[in-house]
Amino acid sequence: MRFDGSLPAFRARCTQARRALPWLLSVCLGLPLAGQAEQVAATPKPVPIPLSALVPQPQAVTTQAEQAPFILNAQVFVQSTEALSVPARVLAQSLDLHMLPTGAAPASGATRIRFEQLSLDSKVSGAYRLKIGSEEVLIQAAEPSGAFYATQTLLQLLPQEAKRTLSAGRFELPAADISDAPRFEWRGIMVDVARHFHDVKRVKGVIDQMALYKLNRLHLHLSDDQGWRLAIKAYPKLSTVGGRGDHSRPDAPAQFYSADDIRSIVRYAAERYIEVVPEIDMPGHSGAAARAYPEYFDGLVTFNPAKPETYHFIDTVLGELAALFPGRYIHFGGDEVWVEKTRWAQMPEVVAMAQDLTPAGQAPQMKFVEAEFARRMVQLIQKHQRVPIAWDEVIAAGLREGMVVQWWRMDHPEAVLTALNQGQSVILSPSDRMYLDYAAGLGEPGAPWEGNTGGPVSVEKIVAWEPMPEGLGEAQRQRVLGIEAPLWTENVRSEAYLQFMLYPRLAAVAEVAWRQQARSEPKAFVKRLAPHIARWKAQGLNVRGGLADAHQYRLH
Ligand code: ACM
Repeated sequence: MRFDGSLPAFRARCTQARRALPWLLSVCLGLPLAGQAEQVAATPKPVPIPLSALVPQPQAVTTQAEQAPFILNAQVFVQSTEALSVPARVLAQSLDLHMLPTGAAPASGATRIRFEQLSLDSKVSGAYRLKIGSEEVLIQAAEPSGAFYATQTLLQLLPQEAKRTLSAGRFELPAADISDAPRFEWRGIMVDVARHFHDVKRVKGVIDQMALYKLNRLHLHLSDDQGWRLAIKAYPKLSTVGGRGDHSRPDAPAQFYSADDIRSIVRYAAERYIEVVPEIDMPGHSGAAARAYPEYFDGLVTFNPAKPETYHFIDTVLGELAALFPGRYIHFGGDEVWVEKTRWAQMPEVVAMAQDLTPAGQAPQMKFVEAEFARRMVQLIQKHQRVPIAWDEVIAAGLREGMVVQWWRMDHPEAVLTALNQGQSVILSPSDRMYLDYAAGLGEPGAPWEGNTGGPVSVEKIVAWEPMPEGLGEAQRQRVLGIEAPLWTENVRSEAYLQFMLYPRLAAVAEVAWRQQARSEPKAFVKRLAPHIARWKAQGLNVRGGLADAHQYRLH
């Protein structure tokens, strides 16, 4: 990402390069110019996903070809033990089916979808069994999340408009026995709502798709130079002043989430077993907050780390954040501080702080100030009883504190090993595999910056990735929490653009996060993806189909 307002010349160069790239590629490859053709509206048609094309691929699927299918019609009951009644009721609602009380016997001839609590052998929560027989669909799981994932598998096997048409018709579910469990506990998507704001409805649309593909962490990048997107009671100017403008329009009216908006997103996500992880990026990337409360900053976009009031300000913001987001984590950014580009060296109090922190006999070094600031963030977040997360620059800064490190700098793999050896946990987001702001294919829209040199982040490239670093001991492997795909939004200003960057790559991210060790063969995966793409198109999503139609996207 990220070249802030203090680097206008660089940004202008990036913009030029970005504009020229699709044209150059289209000329070289003889492809139609990106963005020129309007996508023709697809006609909705029922698109059930065959067992062989479920995404993520379940661990084990046994088909029972000789057995009759389960007939799903409006007369089917849903029945559950108490422990799994929440996902059972959600399924009943989404298919418009009636619940049968726990323990009640169905009338003779009636069929049911039955939820049963059962302990399953899995290191990561979310395991389930789904047995589809002609008399009964049986869902077994140890906890509600597992039962919920079973229902998402079931919904993939049904046409997307099942609810609407069930009263008039019936669907056949193929007899099968599915045994499934996720590989990683962290299966995330990040949306940058700071560069361009994406409202509650859009975010819920992303949550819907995450749920269907069994992803479970939504990281919201809530603040950056271009905008602050969250109302904070104690500091109203953060949103009313800092919320003004975005990457395309510095004069745009303030756009931000109210406390009610956040509560609504968090609740919607929780109903789908998704935890929302808020990020306030500090000490750099804070230009929007600096516009609102310059007294805590260096005159540019970075906090003044030598002023006690700065920490009071941040502590108060973190307190409100903790009250709004009930999840376990708070992300404090910590990336791209670029101390030499701050004004710290011209601020006597920061120089004095650097002198104090630098080993005796050496000239004061700002990298020690950066590390001290990060340490204070860790302490403050822990004080609010949350687990701190930061981007991997904090490892280069020397942090050894108990925290989660999010690795993104693909050319710094040593950060992962250092963090794991220090006992920290890691989320893997290497930019060349996971950055969804990068183009999905040659000549398509995407960010041209920060080491985006390894070609497009295509579906094929994502699913060919084995995320677990080699040579780790068991204890270190346990601390690799999982993977997360960030979507930075310097370019992504509309819902259509957001969807084009997310779909179908979100499904590829889910495949890598969920599947067990073996890599997915890219060509086979692309084949499995075809009905998913057809389904998204039928739902009216601006999905990137494949090479044939990738250049017929719309971004507005
Ligand atoms: C990042 O892309 N600066 C985390």
